[in-house]
Amino acid sequence: MTNIIQWNCRGLKINLLELTLLVQSFLPIAFCLQETHLKESDNVSLKGYNMYSTFSKVDERAAGGSSIFVKDNVIHSTVQLTTDLQAVAIRLSLDKTITLCSIYIPPNSIIDKAKLKNLTDQLPSPFILMGDFNAHNPLWGSKTHNAKGKIIEDFVSQEGLCIFNDGSNTYLHPGNGSYSSIDITICDPSLLLDYSWRVHDDLCGSDHFPIVLEHLFTSAQQRVPRWKLDKGGLVLV
Ligand SMILES: *[C@@H]1O[C@H](CO)[C@@H](O)[C@H](O)[C@H]1NC(C)=O
Ligand SMILES: *[C@@H]1O[C@H](CO)[C@@H](O)[C@H](O)[C@H]1NC(C)=O
Ligand SMILES: *[C@@H]1O[C@H](CO)[C@@H](O)[C@H](O)[C@H]1NC(C)=O
Repeated sequence: MTNIIQWNCRGLKINLLELTLLVQSFLPIAFCLQETHLKESDNVSLKGYNMYSTFSKVDERAAGGSSIFVKDNVIHSTVQLTTDLQAVAIRLSLDKTITLCSIYIPPNSIIDKAKLKNLTDQLPSPFILMGDFNAHNPLWGSKTHNAKGKIIEDFVSQEGLCIFNDGSNTYLHPGNGSYSSIDITICDPSLLLDYSWRVHDDLCGSDHFPIVLEHLFTSAQQRVPRWKLDKGGLVLV
């Protein structure tokens, strides 16, 4: 089982126990968090994982922020990004080598297609771009459109990218209890059939649901014969 998780955790330190439980149930090889609310001086770690973060402040208080955690035994390297977006990217050596990018786009921030393209041009292909975009569009399950939703729709279609979302809600508005879908998983078309996408059934202490990408082994891969060395010689397993 190879899982990748994305989650707007709304504060990594306050939800660290929930995160630990989530990790114990899904054993992800990597996961992307948004709204970590971390300062650079915060000493947060999770046993068995390497952590890579970008930090953000509003009025001198830690706000927003994005992190990627990668399991110790996965060969990986960081992708240096030049961007003012709250994004962090890691190249992972799995069955394929892929780039995972975690992004947080705050509700009041302005994005444009050029800025997104500037970011994705820096991501070695194929990539999965996952995060909280605060973007509404019926294309991925929101009931309404907003400006960000339109920009992301245009960007995805112009760049020939795919969206994993199946229309499920990813966010519960704490003020009025309304659901919407603002967490998006965008990928290169070559990765779309490699993973299943689903929203976890528990908020785990946040106002966003974790999303689990589970790697699906193709029948071609399953048919590859595997051999092991036995007393009598090579045997098919
Ligand atoms: C950070 O936490 C680790 C593990 O809890 C500890 O060993 C280390 O001394 C801490 N570092 C700082 C600078 O507080
Ligand atoms: C991408 O954005 C960064 C920071 O905003 C800027 O320094 C860089 O020149 C841009 N790259 C391109 C190719 O536009
Ligand atoms: C809940 O509040 C949000 C933010 O103020 C608003 O966009 C949304 O329409 C509200 N939903 C309902 C059902 O009132």
